[in-house]
Amino acid sequence: MKIAMIGTGYVGLVTGTCFAESGNDVVCVDINQAKIDGLKQGKIPIYEPGLKELVLRNTENGQLTFTTDIADAVANSTIIYLAVGTPPAADGSADLTAIRNVVDAIGPHLTDDAIVVTKSTVPVGTNQYIFERLRALLGRDVDVASNPEFLKEGAAIDDFMKPDRVVVGVRRPEVGDVLHELYQPFLRTDRPFLVMSPQSAEFTKYAANALLSTKISFINEMANLCERMGGDINDVRRGMGHDQRIGFAFLFPGVGYGGSCFPKDVRALASMARDHGLNPLIMDAVDLVNNHQKHVLVSKIDQHFGGEIQGKRFAVWGLSFKPRTDDIREAPALTLIDYLIEKGATIQVHDPEASSHVRAIYGARLIYCESAMDALNGADAVAINTEWKVYHNPDFSEMRTRMNEHVIFDGRNLYEPERIAKHGFTYHSIGRPTVSEKPDHAELSA
Ligand SMILES: NC(=O)c1ccc[n+]([C@@H]2O[C@H](COP(=O)([O-])OP(=O)(O)OC[C@H]3O[C@@H](n4cnc5c(N)ncnc54)[C@H](O)[C@@H]3O)[C@@H](O)[C@H]2O)c1
Repeated sequence: MKIAMIGTGYVGLVTGTCFAESGNDVVCVDINQAKIDGLKQGKIPIYEPGLKELVLRNTENGQLTFTTDIADAVANSTIIYLAVGTPPAADGSADLTAIRNVVDAIGPHLTDDAIVVTKSTVPVGTNQYIFERLRALLGRDVDVASNPEFLKEGAAIDDFMKPDRVVVGVRRPEVGDVLHELYQPFLRTDRPFLVMSPQSAEFTKYAANALLSTKISFINEMANLCERMGGDINDVRRGMGHDQRIGFAFLFPGVGYGGSCFPKDVRALASMARDHGLNPLIMDAVDLVNNHQKHVLVSKIDQHFGGEIQGKRFAVWGLSFKPRTDDIREAPALTLIDYLIEKGATIQVHDPEASSHVRAIYGARLIYCESAMDALNGADAVAINTEWKVYHNPDFSEMRTRMNEHVIFDGRNLYEPERIAKHGFTYHSIGRPTVSEKPDHAELSA
């Protein structure tokens, strides 16, 4: 099939590349000239494991091309995917400016048999808006389908190639058949292809993200409570998760969720509820708990140092909102960095992939380190925000040598408290008792 992917960001680039990999002719379109020029030269604008190899292979064999010429791309394609951003507006609702601009831009160039498909996460009713707008522009009906995306950054290729399910919202079953054929190569293991109305498809995406966010805020609230009552949330989590009605997924306490999806989608769903006269009690609480949780390391640091942060040196490990991505949108690390800057600390940061994006915001206010160990030099404490593999099993004796004081604030519960204490650290984590350094000479010399 001939596909135009409008918007070549995290979703558009991954989706377009995977469709090209399965034998379609895909042209990825963007208004960002530098991004398109870079892609034409094989420069991948984001870090996503496995993406670069696939992009290079499919550009070399001609299945995947890049352009800023939306008119030409649309005129030569039968499936027009919309994958532009839908960022939050000031009131929390989804800002549909890019979607509206693209609909107006593609309208005049659509062929008679073109199908327009929204991949972007859009409020319920957006499909209907696009349908009516195109009818007004063209004087005829155009097929407009909804095909929300459930991929996770950091595992996007795998998620797209082996989806748990594919959801499409259509007005005519024939449009569902075309999309089924397009997805056939990814459904080999009998994954469900679910056809429903556009409204239900649009809502499914928000409802799914809302529940995942709710699970995270729930376990974070339990962790905070557990900590105050003297339990260990890891044990509680295990005790809960074996109940098949509950399970383990998305019940890891931490520094709160970030990224480009959960925060904005929870707020957009709350905004939709308000528009329909419903008070979104759960969504508002989930958002509130998360905003609070993004300050959890701030409170622990403040308490540990008695508010005396000025002049202290902090290592910050992990900047991206989760591992295996360079995405720092709404990343909890930024909340911590803002606080440390405000208090006059010196901040030495490390991240395997995201440092350049953080540098673009903070410039010379931070010290950017090539290695996790370098970030520890002379530090009074290290704060861990992202569970990158490189932080899972560090050389604790080298850490001790490099650091000035031996304090760890672990926002991802990477280590066993008793073991860390024996390595000679004071260890603060989430939902577990704080342990003070109890150096064990056998461990220290190990
Ligand atoms: N990132 C994710 O993990 C994820 C997962 C599922 C769904 N989504 C949804 O997918 C959509 C895209 O998200 P993203 O993270 O890829 O965003 P992004 O910001 O990475 O990419 C959006 C791209 O659209 C381009 N663009 C904006 N206006 C344009 C126009 N008029 N013409 C052509 N290109 C234009 C931008 O330059 C940018 O490259 C959002 O609605 C998001 O909620 C994202």
